[in-house]
Amino acid sequence: MNDNQFAVVDDYIEDLFLGPDPVLEAALADAAAAGLPTIHVSPAQGSLLRLLALAVGARRVLEIGTLGGYSAIWLARALPADGRLITLEREPRHAEVARANLARAGLADRVEVRVGPAAEGLAALARAGDAPFDLVFIDADKAGYPDYLDWSLRLTRPGGLIVADNVLRRAAIAVPEDDDADADGIRRFNARLAAEPRVTATLLPTVGRKGLDGLALAWVH
Ligand code: SAH
Ligand code: DHB
Ligand code: MG
Repeated sequence: MNDNQFAVVDDYIEDLFLGPDPVLEAALADAAAAGLPTIHVSPAQGSLLRLLALAVGARRVLEIGTLGGYSAIWLARALPADGRLITLEREPRHAEVARANLARAGLADRVEVRVGPAAEGLAALARAGDAPFDLVFIDADKAGYPDYLDWSLRLTRPGGLIVADNVLRRAAIAVPEDDDADADGIRRFNARLAAEPRVTATLLPTVGRKGLDGLALAWVH
């Protein structure tokens, strides 16, 4: 199978499980119109994030890497009316697009987009000492993944989930000339996760329109 053939996998899942969704489609259209990169999760991955949030009964969710708010909409839809999603984004322009998309989705009351480097946002959350999170979704700069894992372990409740995007493309398919801080960050994240006694974890390969990649899934003891 090549990347192009993988597209039929996304088509198949979307045809069966995911009907038209004007709010999500408008979020992607506005993000593209604003010139944001098209590196959001796929609809199938978004529906998996929602399912995982529902499975852990999530009331508090943390996202690292908002972009235009596409995955945030999927996650926030799993929350009860008094639930909360905090999502961290370095780029003010991305945050602005995300806030508009979340407002159109009717989710502005449960989602807070915090602008700044994730490392600072995470330190502030730890300092605040609020209730821990039921689910953390890591999807920002890949070089930061090992650091984000440390913070996520501190901020997630026992029985909660840590999920991370893009853990296989740059790691399992070794292309030495393609090595950089991002590939290195992903490999260190995966190795740390595998050796971490506080979680039961695995890497779930995903295929679709954008080829092969994978999600890390970690259940916190
Ligand atoms: N989760 C989104 C996609 C996120 S793309 C979705 O699926 O819809 C990664 C995002 O992380 C980009 O918006 C980028 O600006 C942001 N980012 C990159 N480095 C960051 C950092 N150090 N701190 C916070 N956000 C960062
Ligand atoms: C890319 C994809 C992602 O899901 C991401 O978080 C960052 C970059 C990419 O395809 O370049
Ligand atoms: Mg990603």
